Amino acid sequence: MSSMVQIKQADEMQAWALARRLDGARIGLVPTMGYLHAGHLSLVAEARKRADVVVVSIFVNPVQFGPNEDFEKYPRDEARDLEQCERAGASAVFFPSVATMYAPDASVFVTEERLSAGLCGARRPGHFRGVCTVVAKLFNLAQPHVAVFGQKDYQQAAIIRRMVRDLNFPIEIVVAPIVREPDGLAMSSRNVYLSADERQRALGLSRALQAAAACVEQGGAPAADVRARMVEVIEAHALQLDYAEIVDAESLEPVAEARRGNVALVAAQCGRTRLIDNQIL
Ligand code: PAJ
Repeated sequence: MSSMVQIKQADEMQAWALARRLDGARIGLVPTMGYLHAGHLSLVAEARKRADVVVVSIFVNPVQFGPNEDFEKYPRDEARDLEQCERAGASAVFFPSVATMYAPDASVFVTEERLSAGLCGARRPGHFRGVCTVVAKLFNLAQPHVAVFGQKDYQQAAIIRRMVRDLNFPIEIVVAPIVREPDGLAMSSRNVYLSADERQRALGLSRALQAAAACVEQGGAPAADVRARMVEVIEAHALQLDYAEIVDAESLEPVAEARRGNVALVAAQCGRTRLIDNQIL
């Protein structure tokens, strides 16, 4: 017998969360776009450690996709996702329709103006505006005390932290480590797009990051050299480079000298699939 609640309407989600708060429960939220994998489930496990009840949201948010991106064909499997949430011990799953999330004439959006400028923000105009807007809405609907995000989307997590700070959301943000396949590929819902050949070539991202980490193992190294090494590895795997950067962990500004504690981030096109990965050096 399951005790997991399935919620589809935005107002029902908020009523459920406010009732749990009146019960005195500490609420954890794990926002996702579904097609769940072990990376997502690690966030649920983390949330369970920090909260009494855990809400998993599953919503492919149209506002964060560009006009030529994969919103329509983003992988979806509601039945399997529900089963996985259940097994992971979620208390509630919120899977709203686009209609319950956005009024047709919605006209208020949340923009972060500094951390969003580079990296994926530069490559995907409007992406983080969509992310911030939907996450702010999910915070208002699920009323979490704590929300768990993955380091897989390092820039996203930094921007959410900034939004929480700058808009005074009373929410603790936890960032959980990247879950990888045994060969090093970071788990991603988009990995299903990869052909067998692309799946092999996709290892170029994690290998480029390992090469970057090796460069700073003995101390600092000029960021330009480390970057060149990453580009070399990406190209050796026949991937089309989107970016490879070494940045400050907080400001996300590129550094001149790569040091431990900086973050290496890569994005590359593997066939038609855009993949990202990162590593704290
Ligand atoms: P999605 O790509 O489904 O990811 C949901 C959460 O899972 C994010 O916090 C992401 O960083 C984390 N995640 C993904 N792959 C991971 C991995 N291999 N290891 C650990 N965590 C991983 O990110 C989004 O959805 C959306 O932008 C969202 C925040 C839900 C807003 O729409």
